[in-house]
Amino acid sequence: TLKACLFDLDGVIVDTARYHFLAWKQLAEQLGIDFTEEHNELLKGVSRMRSLDIILEIGGKTLSEEEKTALANKKNEVYLEYILKMDESEILPGVKSFITELKNNHIRVALGSASKNARLILKRLNIENLFDAVIDGNKVSEAKPDPEVFLNGAAELQVEPEACVVFEDAVAGIEAAQNAGMFCVGIGDITILKKANLVIPGFADFNLEKLQACMQEDSY
Ligand code: BG6
Ligand code: MG
Repeated sequence: TLKACLFDLDGVIVDTARYHFLAWKQLAEQLGIDFTEEHNELLKGVSRMRSLDIILEIGGKTLSEEEKTALANKKNEVYLEYILKMDESEILPGVKSFITELKNNHIRVALGSASKNARLILKRLNIENLFDAVIDGNKVSEAKPDPEVFLNGAAELQVEPEACVVFEDAVAGIEAAQNAGMFCVGIGDITILKKANLVIPGFADFNLEKLQACMQEDSY
């Protein structure tokens, strides 16, 4: 039986991918690297440093660790300018009412994000109090598709992994959920997220009853 739901943040609760893109794009331009929205897909679910490495690979550049740290910090400063302007209106449609429905049904809720800015974003969106546990980029050492982030979430909630469901928009995140032995709902395009147990375009037309029906059908 379902006891807990673990949510990714970027691309599931809020569309911050756009802000990550704008901030990376600005940095790439300064480095003379042509960085496109298509390239940006590769950065979803991936840590900040790994994202920078991918951009440098695209541009065929090699830099020292010190230079890379400075650039990653610079990107984050630009990203934070966007984040600090965010408010509740940017929560994706249906997410908040779905989480509220879960809580009313005594299902525990955690955040499982690679972002080191996750707490700040939850504060900006005024939804920090909805989560029984927050596992973010400051708490994990292994990036998705490693299951660490979701296993930590389950442990903090004191729920066994088999009783957890993960909501993810990134391929690496879906793999992480599967590596954790959890049922996974993909948010987005089914052709990209085909490894998930269930794929929905968003939460607007979704509820607990539908989730439970799909979990039974999946004979999970
Ligand atoms: C993930 C995003 O949630 O967090 C990635 O999908 C991002 O695109 C990663 O790189 C790390 O985020 P931050 O906020 O720590 O730079
Ligand atoms: Mg995501």
